[in-house]
Amino acid sequence: MKKLIAVAIAVILTLSAVMCAFGAPAYKGDLDGDGKVLAGEARRILRMSAKLDPQPDRDSEAFRLADVDGDGKLLAKDARIALRISAKLEPMMTNQTADFSTITEGKLIMATNAAFPPYEYIEDNMIVGIDAEIAALIAEKLGLELDIQDVDFDSIVAGVAGGKYDMGMAGMTVTEARKKIVNFTDTYATNVQAIIVPEGSPIKSADDIATDGSMKIGVQLGTIGDFYDSAEPEDWGFGEDNVKRYKTGPGALQALISGKVDAVIIDNETAKAYVAANEGLVLLSEPYTEENYAICVDPSNAALLDAVNGAILELISDGSIQAIIDKYS
Ligand code: ARG
Repeated sequence: MKKLIAVAIAVILTLSAVMCAFGAPAYKGDLDGDGKVLAGEARRILRMSAKLDPQPDRDSEAFRLADVDGDGKLLAKDARIALRISAKLEPMMTNQTADFSTITEGKLIMATNAAFPPYEYIEDNMIVGIDAEIAALIAEKLGLELDIQDVDFDSIVAGVAGGKYDMGMAGMTVTEARKKIVNFTDTYATNVQAIIVPEGSPIKSADDIATDGSMKIGVQLGTIGDFYDSAEPEDWGFGEDNVKRYKTGPGALQALISGKVDAVIIDNETAKAYVAANEGLVLLSEPYTEENYAICVDPSNAALLDAVNGAILELISDGSIQAIIDKYS
């Protein structure tokens, strides 16, 4: 009898060991089920939460695992918790002397277009703003000296892909077209496009521009406003003939003030800053696109992309990025 019990216990123990190895439910945050939560998983959760990855089906196992705090929503907070779990399991990647390289050793060359408050603008001869501050923290984490260069917005993507700059950070929206040329980091902010019109304008919404058909819209060359708005009406644009392109955002705004265009379409936070700084302009509150801002990196430098992503994740997790954004809004 004793022997029988011993055998039964042995069988149960073996069975439960086998079940643990094969059928054990993976724990929260461990997306690949390898028994560990690593920084890469935290990054994936962050991407899911920013909707860059297709959102997993609400009932799916992936959603259950990624929703680390189990509140039924996938938020950056889940990535933050996963990162905290992973930090106990592996050294934080950006604290290691990582094996990435930059164009000039010891430097991080960033291209921007500094007429885009609150993300980047010039104050007392210095480039300041949300991007400049976040970039400074990234450079610090990577142990590099930040060198910000103010260039035309429409030259940034090509310059980054061509190895002229290590990264481009300019309130830049992630688009499929740009993704064919450069790599994008994880999202660090979101944006909607906004419409600026003069006080008393008959334009009250994007629909009014579309219905009228003869309104001229000012945009910054090479921006998402330029792509969307110059598209044909069947693609929700206003048609090539109705769009006037300017090298800078303030250039487009000047055209609006002097009556050369009927509206300016530009990123919401920048639109708010322009309207606040100029009399007689109104911001139409109807946002008609939603987009993500990210940093673009040379596609042949995957190690730098990883390193910058590691830094961004830490800066999201510890609340630094939100604090910088809040400071400017
Ligand atoms: N988010 C828009 C885009 O990516 C506009 C960015 C303009 N940025 C600037 N620094 N001027 O196309």
